[in-house]
Amino acid sequence: MAYQLEVVDLHSLPPAGTVLGERETAFYHTLKLPKRQTEWFGGRLALKRLLTKHRGCQLQEIEILAPGGQGKPVVTVGENPINIPFSITHSQGFAVAAIAPNSKYVGIDLEKIEHRISAWKEDFFRPDELTDDTDSFLTMLWTQKEALVKMLGTGLTVNSREVRIVDGVPQFSGRALEMYNSLGSPQITLETKPLLKDFQFSIALGK
Ligand SMILES: CC(C)(COP(=O)(O)OP(=O)(O)OC[C@H]1O[C@@H](n2cnc3c(N)ncnc32)[C@H](O)[C@@H]1OP(=O)(O)O)[C@@H](O)C(=O)NCCC(=O)NCCS
Repeated sequence: MAYQLEVVDLHSLPPAGTVLGERETAFYHTLKLPKRQTEWFGGRLALKRLLTKHRGCQLQEIEILAPGGQGKPVVTVGENPINIPFSITHSQGFAVAAIAPNSKYVGIDLEKIEHRISAWKEDFFRPDELTDDTDSFLTMLWTQKEALVKMLGTGLTVNSREVRIVDGVPQFSGRALEMYNSLGSPQITLETKPLLKDFQFSIALGK
């Protein structure tokens, strides 16, 4: 399979001590907001579950920490960085992780379908992307954009309008294009799939 997904329900998590290593536990306790702590932990649990199956190692042997405490994490197993493309997302009670061993890059995003103010819509998208006005469509487009900027590794440090998606086909401009080119202009597969009721979920794979 091109990728594997793991969904974690944040309402039924195991004790952190059974999942996290020493340095992860120390970081976990620095997170002051319970929501952030739960999401951070759930994302790690999801990714560790995938990696233990893929590599045949134990949950606590895997360390998932972001340099400086934020941004894209680095995954190590026994001090060695692993080079399997992975991505984490969390939204409203769920965390999801993906690994894509046969791709070079992967990004995922999960968002609850909700009504959002029109200022958000106008700020986040380009007019020609707005081919539909439903909450479901706009949330889908949002997840596609976030999956792509995570695949690039920039997150939203690039302007969301530098990623244009019309009919599911992405085009980059500005700094997003520079990043895409620096990754070797990978061939992108962008997929939105039903994963959880009332949510949109998208995955961007780069080969
Ligand atoms: C990355 C980003 C697009 C995530 O969007 P989001 O919808 O809020 O969050 P999600 O739950 O979908 O994803 C969060 C996960 O993305 C991953 N991630 C963070 N930065 C990433 C990056 N540059 N590239 C790829 N993945 C990234 C992390 O694993 C993070 O989860 P974790 O912190 O628990 O490990 C967004 O947070 C971002 O771009 N941030 C950078 C801009 C920034 O720092 N702004 C200031 C915010 S106060």
